[in-house]
Amino acid sequence: MKLLHSGKVRDLYADGDDLIMVASDRISVYDVVLPTPIPDKGAILTQLSLWWFERLADLVPSHVISATRVPPEWAGRAIRCRRLEMIGVECIARGYLAGLGLESYRATGSISGVPLPAGLTEGSRLPAPVFTPTTKADVGQHDENIDFDQVAALTGAADADRLRELTLAVYGRGHEVALDRGVIIADTKLEFGRAPDGSIILADEVLTPDSSRFWPAGQWRPGQAQPALDKQFVRDWSLRSGWDKRPPAPPVPAEVVESTRARYVEAYERITGERWG
Ligand SMILES: Nc1ncnc2c1ncn2[C@@H]1O[C@H](COP(=O)(O)OP(=O)(O)OP(=O)(O)O)[C@@H](O)[C@H]1O
Ligand SMILES: [Mg+2]
Repeated sequence: MKLLHSGKVRDLYADGDDLIMVASDRISVYDVVLPTPIPDKGAILTQLSLWWFERLADLVPSHVISATRVPPEWAGRAIRCRRLEMIGVECIARGYLAGLGLESYRATGSISGVPLPAGLTEGSRLPAPVFTPTTKADVGQHDENIDFDQVAALTGAADADRLRELTLAVYGRGHEVALDRGVIIADTKLEFGRAPDGSIILADEVLTPDSSRFWPAGQWRPGQAQPALDKQFVRDWSLRSGWDKRPPAPPVPAEVVESTRARYVEAYERITGERWG
């Protein structure tokens, strides 16, 4: 099979017209891949994405063709999907204030041109989820916030409307389902592609701890940083280690690897209600 692209986390192979997307155990923080893998991470992200794609199918078609028709050495961590022309926008929905959304709110009182009420704090739930797209940056670059009009300039107005509508619909469904299982999805990043007939299809991964902020609902306390079942733990460790966010990143200590793996497993188990492995 021909390797088309090796991303920070996933490797893409061509199999005829199809794509085989293989999720590795690599982890990236601040757009830099760490030298230490997190065991089982690729399989956990793949299985959780598949679980969600099924539960979103009535809202938006997905790129999944088969989770089982993949080379046996990648079983469990690979998905056979439709090879799409990707839309170069990271479609982010935010339902709570954290990360870059929080920074933007503190600086301007708004996010991506959407004004928000005064008095919100770190971890606050927003009155309604907002669409805060970014560009999809090239290797070595960081994504940049863009507003709705800039999306429209890239994709056309009709597709921009559709991307916003789909992003908020997927986030809304995900938030509702996960909350029922004790997990707050604070925000998430989606990627869409175009099929040959022009229709918009949900691609990449969906509602995973790599692409989203997951907070245990029982411990949610606005006004402080939230405990998280996602990469935040590794981001926090990497900054405490004194790393300057530039490659190469330092190796990850065994206890941080183990705690990170445990968080990914917990996210999977809580959301799906199934035991991992
Ligand atoms: N159905 C699809 N067809 C074509 N490309 C896809 C499809 N689904 C996802 N992709 C692309 O596959 C890649 C997944 O790899 P990964 O997430 O590791 O890369 P990345 O770190 O996000 O970005 P980069 O590729 O810049 O390193 C992304 O570039 C994503 O846009
Ligand atoms: Mg990616």
